[in-house]
Amino acid sequence: MNVHASALAEAHLPDEQTTAFAREAIEDLSQQPKKLSPKYFYDATGSELFEAITRLPEYYPTRTELSILRERGSEIAKIIPEHAALVEFGAGATTKVRLLLNQCKFAAYVPVDISGDFLKAQANGLKRDFPSLGIYPVAADFTTPFELPKAVASMPKVGFFPGSTIGNFEPHEAQAFLKSARQILGAGAQMIIGADLEKEERLLHAAYNDAAGVTARFNLNVLVRINRELGGNFDLSAFTHRAIYNHARHRIEMHLISRKSQTVRLLGTSFSFRPGESIHTENSYKYSLERFAALAQGAGWRVRESWTDAAKMFSVHALEAAES
Ligand code: AVI
Repeated sequence: MNVHASALAEAHLPDEQTTAFAREAIEDLSQQPKKLSPKYFYDATGSELFEAITRLPEYYPTRTELSILRERGSEIAKIIPEHAALVEFGAGATTKVRLLLNQCKFAAYVPVDISGDFLKAQANGLKRDFPSLGIYPVAADFTTPFELPKAVASMPKVGFFPGSTIGNFEPHEAQAFLKSARQILGAGAQMIIGADLEKEERLLHAAYNDAAGVTARFNLNVLVRINRELGGNFDLSAFTHRAIYNHARHRIEMHLISRKSQTVRLLGTSFSFRPGESIHTENSYKYSLERFAALAQGAGWRVRESWTDAAKMFSVHALEAAES
């Protein structure tokens, strides 16, 4: 048993997920530059903070995507076959999917998410409002291959991946995800996907450095989790949130910056920080319409239609599986 494993055992840490979190956190904090995976933002507090972000005046993506889906609903309905199965990759708040379900005639809805409990609660709410819709939740990690329920086998498939979550993947991961979605949904599939657009730096900077400090709390929450779940001793007041736009790589980067020279301990390992040293916690890639089309094409999809708002802040794309 190595030092990390024995420290884990001593701390009586429970499940597989916590062990994976511990392993990954130790590995990522041991790298130069230090990093932490954004997937660990989303415990109950992090998910609430993210919901709060979506309502911030500076954070335009959520409300802009909703307005595109609302305004272009009838156009989306025209290109989607009737009685199709809508497969949502990752299931968050149901506001966006409700817009699609209201405007298009779907026969089935297949939400796919790692959290089975969350899926059940979400399915119950939708069942009440769409009584004739077949709802078939799948508890799976949607970034890896999974099987669709037999009940939707004969239906045309439409994937749904809103929120510019694709922007939190590295470009090679985004391509791998789109390829895997193409495989899972099968020949003749379509996909509705939201992607944030490149824009003036001032607007991007404001969206990720909001005046109320909600994004800062969201970013720092990963350290709160490490302290609580992995017995770390991060002093939260000794780290500052910073989000910057990296022009060359077309992405917002979120960092936690050490305010001083300090050492943090986590499961028997010490990590030292220089003043100003960063933990890189998230990338949020911004696409032009052309770069998004190239990404989709490289993954076996063709852009059938792209919609943006008038100010070109956000884009929603309808993709169709290219003939293979
Ligand atoms: C979930 N994802 C699309 C958000 C984004 O804009 O990249 C996460 C986020 N990070 C900071 N604010 C919002």
